[in-house]
Parts: sequence; C-alpha cells; structure tokens
Amino acid sequence: RIVYVNGDYVPEAEAKISVFDRGFLMADGVYEVTSVLAGRMIDFAAHMARLRRSLAELEMDAPAGEAELEAIHREMIARNALEEGMIYMQVTRGAADRDFTYPEGAEPSLVLFTQARPLRDTAGARNGIRVITVPDIRWARRDIKTVQLLAPSMCKMAAKTAGVDDAWMQEDGVVTEGTSNNACIVTAEGTVVTRDLSSDILHGITRAAVLRFAREAQVKVEERAFTVEEARAAAEAFVTSASSFVTPVVEIDGTAIGDGTPGPVARRLRDIYIEESL
Ligand code: PDD
Repeated sequence: RIVYVNGDYVPEAEAKISVFDRGFLMADGVYEVTSVLAGRMIDFAAHMARLRRSLAELEMDAPAGEAELEAIHREMIARNALEEGMIYMQVTRGAADRDFTYPEGAEPSLVLFTQARPLRDTAGARNGIRVITVPDIRWARRDIKTVQLLAPSMCKMAAKTAGVDDAWMQEDGVVTEGTSNNACIVTAEGTVVTRDLSSDILHGITRAAVLRFAREAQVKVEERAFTVEEARAAAEAFVTSASSFVTPVVEIDGTAIGDGTPGPVARRLRDIYIEESL
C-alpha cells in the first residue's frame, strides 16, 4: 500500500511520524473516513466541511487547503488503484515537546491511507447485524471527530465478547449512537427516527444524506432521542456510516427486531443511497 505522510507518497513500511506527534501522545487530532465506490468518493465536500468544523473546535490549523486535500485524496485513489473501499485522512496538531497546552507554531501532520474492501455486497447488508446496548462512556464532545477512539473500541470489544456485531451506546436508557455509526429505528407507522444533532453524537455525513433521501422518497423522518426500550420494540432498526452505508440491525440485546430479518425501509434506503452515490 502507498500511504501519504506530510507531503510524500511512500510505501507503508517507509512512512515515518515523530514520537512527539501530539496525535500519538495525546490523541490531539481529527480524522475523516470517506468511502469510494467505482473509484469515486462519496460526499467528499461534506467530509471537508466536517473536518473544517472539527479543526475549528480544536483551534487546529488545516494542513493544506481544501483543493489540495481533494487532490491528495484523488492521487491516493489512483496510486492504490482503489475501486471500492475507504480513504482515511488524519490531521494532528503536529510534533512538540509534551505539554498539555497547545504548542505555538507546530506544523500539523497529515496522514492518509486507503482500505480496499467491498461496501455494496456485505454480509451485514444481506443478513443484518446484531447489537447489544452498552453505557456510553465517551467524553462530552462527540460532535468533534477526534482520533481518541478507545471508548468506542472498548464498547465494540464488549459486543465481540458477547458474540454480536456491534454495540449501541446509551445514556440513562436513551440511545446515543453506534460505536462508529449513527443509530436509527423505524416505527410501526414507517417513520424513521434518529437522534437529533448535538454534542452528544457525531454528525454523520451518511445520516444526513439518508435522511435527505428518505424525505425525498416521502418517508417520514423524526430527529429525536429514542430509548433502548423503544428500539427493541421498533419495526426496524439500522445504522448509517461511510463504511456501512445503511446496514439493517436485526437484533438488539437478544431481542429480534421486527421479524428478525432486514426490514423493507432499511433495504430501500440502502438501495437509494447506493444508487445516488454511484
Ligand atoms: N465512523 N458516529 C460515530 C461515532 C462514528 O465514528 C461515525 C463514523 C459515524 C458515522 O459518520 P459518517 O456517516 O460520516 O461516516 C457516526 C467512521 C466511519 C470510522 O470511524 O471508521
């Protein structure tokens, strides 16, 4: 694999980053994951807008202008002959002597790599995934897409240990989101319900696109909090993310959702999402 590190395209074994990089020492960095379908990026402008916001919230300098970042993404697709998969981009505050305050004049570090993998035809899309609910132990600024991913890793490991695919995180019985995706349910009336935007969740790019497509297809949408109890009793459930598009959830905490197979609303929204993204 060819990776990008601070201006250079190099084989991954040759990539170097300082041990004093604040991304490494303090998780002082932000990232974006953009999906690639048929060699083309999905919703790149929206990922750039979210990156801009994450950087602003952390008073971090951008490593390059947006046109240049886009050119680097395209170059990475070309150099890795990526047809279907993900591009990961990480910006950290850069290298500086270890200190809790932000250093002045540090050069931000920019790293990109690609992951080739099927996105359209997946077991999750065919069969749905099973989730458990776990306490949301993350910090209070989940709207900033930082690289501090230990809490969601722990939550996802709890799911793996329990023998299921993923975890939905909850606070006081109310679902926030999945470990790396936004959580949605469908009511008996066919309304898509997903948590409203705040600092409690990441503002998913896929979530926004799917809600737009749903409204265009005359599917009712409610952006509000929902409880674990409501989710377990829902007609359908699904998650959205750049890496999973729309993926049906067929079981929550051992309770089958609907008839325990991918529901029609989730399947339709997935089809629309892929069609619109191609
Ligand atoms: N995760 N919520 C969380 C906590 C996430 O980490 C993600 C994305 C999402 C979905 O956002 P989007 O639709 O913009 O991908 C929601 C990425 C894919 C990851 O960490 O791999």
